[in-house]
Amino acid sequence: VIKMSDLNLAGKRVLIREDLNVPVKDGKVTSDARIRASLPTIKMAAEAGAKVMLMSHLGRPTEGEYAEEFSLAPVAADLSAKLGKEVRIIKDYLGGDFEVAEGEVVLLENVRFNVGEKKNDEALSKQYAALCDVYVMDAFGTAHRAQASTHGAGAFAETACAGPLLAAELEALGKALNNPARPMVAIVGGSKVSTKLTVLESLSEKVDQLVVGGGIANTFIEAAGYNVGKSLSESDLVPTCKKLNEIMEARGAAIPLASDVVCGKEFSETAAAETKNVSEVADDDMIFDIGPDSADELATIIKNAGTVVWNGPVGVFEFDQFGEGTKAISMAIAESSAFSIAGGGDTLAAIDKYDIADKVSYISTGGGAFLEFLEGKKLPAVEMLEKAAAK
Ligand code: 3PG
Repeated sequence: VIKMSDLNLAGKRVLIREDLNVPVKDGKVTSDARIRASLPTIKMAAEAGAKVMLMSHLGRPTEGEYAEEFSLAPVAADLSAKLGKEVRIIKDYLGGDFEVAEGEVVLLENVRFNVGEKKNDEALSKQYAALCDVYVMDAFGTAHRAQASTHGAGAFAETACAGPLLAAELEALGKALNNPARPMVAIVGGSKVSTKLTVLESLSEKVDQLVVGGGIANTFIEAAGYNVGKSLSESDLVPTCKKLNEIMEARGAAIPLASDVVCGKEFSETAAAETKNVSEVADDDMIFDIGPDSADELATIIKNAGTVVWNGPVGVFEFDQFGEGTKAISMAIAESSAFSIAGGGDTLAAIDKYDIADKVSYISTGGGAFLEFLEGKKLPAVEMLEKAAAK
């Protein structure tokens, strides 16, 4: 693909699709990780003398209707503070009836207010494309969506290229997934096997150790013939878990099962935590974390790894008494010399809580996009950029 850093942007109208879909509360941005990640791209374009137009979605508003709660205004304010200069927000931009100075940065209002954005409408895509000389796709977090601002705009733009953030994400994730230093360990946590089944299937073909956690692990524990009591478990997927185990074993790889677990009788912040052997879970127990022996075993696996891919906590870490397993994993990743990548909202929250952000080799800005990458899917925005480079 063509890279933004290879182009001369001076005096050009440059339209950059970022993923500035950040949490907002009471008109304020509450987590600015995605904004911080996009800053180097924005600064690079502005410093090159481009007329910079940023575009992004925020949330999932009703198409064709302006709604203040989905306005990017709080993001514009945050960006203004970070850049030390005003970032104007432009509401009516589709007709191109606005001026941007060289070196200036403006933010176009939420693209999902536009009719046709989500269905990648051709007419809307052409309107976006007409705003610019160069279209930059930098929104890794939305690269799995074939929508007008992430796909169509680039397909119709005079020049379409990958921004530095998108390029860096693709490189880091590609290195971990396609050319991993071994042993390669993946940690997949989360509540359900069903929502991560394609990720598990794809990783089962690649990794040396597939560590499952959270509700996902419960179904594997059930598949191993143990009682999981009242734990979240998808009994109908027990055969699927057995199959995944077989695939891994046939390759000389493994899905390590927890030898001990931490149980509670209710899902609450004050629930008492009880550590048990995995064979001793009672009918009224709920498994909320891996136990200390299992945490030690996983820490050893992680410390000896060449590559670690992490998506999803292994316990209910928002309650401290069920957070030790996720904490142990975080610490092991921090201490490991393995090339580590992590992504997904809950994972980022755990990384924040245990303060290991600067110890992870690469933290993805993607949630759904990160998962689709792990699934081995080709991201539509990347396909568009490849086509654009070939023409
Ligand atoms: C995300 O937060 O995962 C991306 O911004 C994509 O948002 P979407 O799932 O609403 O398309």
